[in-house]
Amino acid sequence: MWMRNLSNFQSDNRLELLTRRSAIGVISAGVGGSLTLPWSISDAFSATKPPFGVAVHLDPFRNEPIFRELLKKHAGLIVPMNALKWASLRHTEGKFDFGGADEIIDFAEANGQPIHGHALLWYHANPSWIDAVTSPQLLERLLNEHIETVVGRYAGRIATWDVVNEVVAHDPLTQGKWRKGVWHDILGPRHVEIAFAAAAKADPNCRLFINDYDLEDDSLRTEARQRAILQIVRRLQKKNIPIHGVGLQAHLYAERRTGRENLIKFVRELKTLGLEVAVTELDVIDWKLSADPVVRDRAVVATVKEFLDAITEAGPVRNITTWGLSDKYSWIKDVFPRDDSAIARPLPFDRDWNQKPLFDLIKKYTQ
Ligand code: XIL
Repeated sequence: MWMRNLSNFQSDNRLELLTRRSAIGVISAGVGGSLTLPWSISDAFSATKPPFGVAVHLDPFRNEPIFRELLKKHAGLIVPMNALKWASLRHTEGKFDFGGADEIIDFAEANGQPIHGHALLWYHANPSWIDAVTSPQLLERLLNEHIETVVGRYAGRIATWDVVNEVVAHDPLTQGKWRKGVWHDILGPRHVEIAFAAAAKADPNCRLFINDYDLEDDSLRTEARQRAILQIVRRLQKKNIPIHGVGLQAHLYAERRTGRENLIKFVRELKTLGLEVAVTELDVIDWKLSADPVVRDRAVVATVKEFLDAITEAGPVRNITTWGLSDKYSWIKDVFPRDDSAIARPLPFDRDWNQKPLFDLIKKYTQ
């Protein structure tokens, strides 16, 4: 079971609508004033609420018919939760195992749901043979081959990709800017450029994202993380390597507040650079709340509302995606365990697949 650097989390104490105006490009038409063109912000982006995305875990997808029913009914975007990670695709060096990914992707296509790919490079969920590589030349070749094969296979089918995931250090103030791990340690900061260039080459029409967590509050650590993301974006742009968006994972803590002004400023800076913003892994960590489910659901709704109000105030988001659908299959209970025996309630549906207040809230912000 994957455990995220939990000691770090504990040590830091705890761890629109698109307005018509912003949807329309305005260019100067010389003496005559300005000429307004109906050009949209991006390919699949329209002047409506963003789609509600759901990350799909393979086990319940295979074994719980109700999960597939709810996906058909409610999801406007599908994200294979683990099936496109290196650990799922690359058990051995010589062979790709696309079985699980194909099951989810075929289902989404049959239902006309766009697919977001997650993730081409992550410090975690790598097969042990990748973590053991020490030659920069070999690792670069393997990374290029992987991205060429995976993005190439789904070219024209996967609309957006998390090209790199969590490449910023948990705390850049004390750890330096970059996340430690095989990619950074062997290739240096170039790993990000290699990955984006390879993805752009494999599918020139795909929208390419950098994805990361803890970008929502206004602590000094979060500000440093935001700065690191902006630096990475600017560096790619300077080198003419395509990047189209930033994914905010939004694993929100019920005991933390959104840094409204800071978040709006960050998102606007990204938009000024021409980037889109997506909410990619929304859920709420409720480990510090009292056990009463009514109290917890209320706090979860308040936490998400505060965040979504701020982020949509800064302009349109590409999608709002939750990291799973039912509390029964959430990573939160394992990685952020409670002191009591109460079951975590981070997601829009409960363990018995009943709709929760969080679902009603998300529906107000999505199509
Ligand atoms: C998690 C999955 O939800 C788990 O099923 C898996 O065991 C580990 O990974 N940030 C990410 C996601 O980008 O890929 C992680 O997903 C959760 C944190």
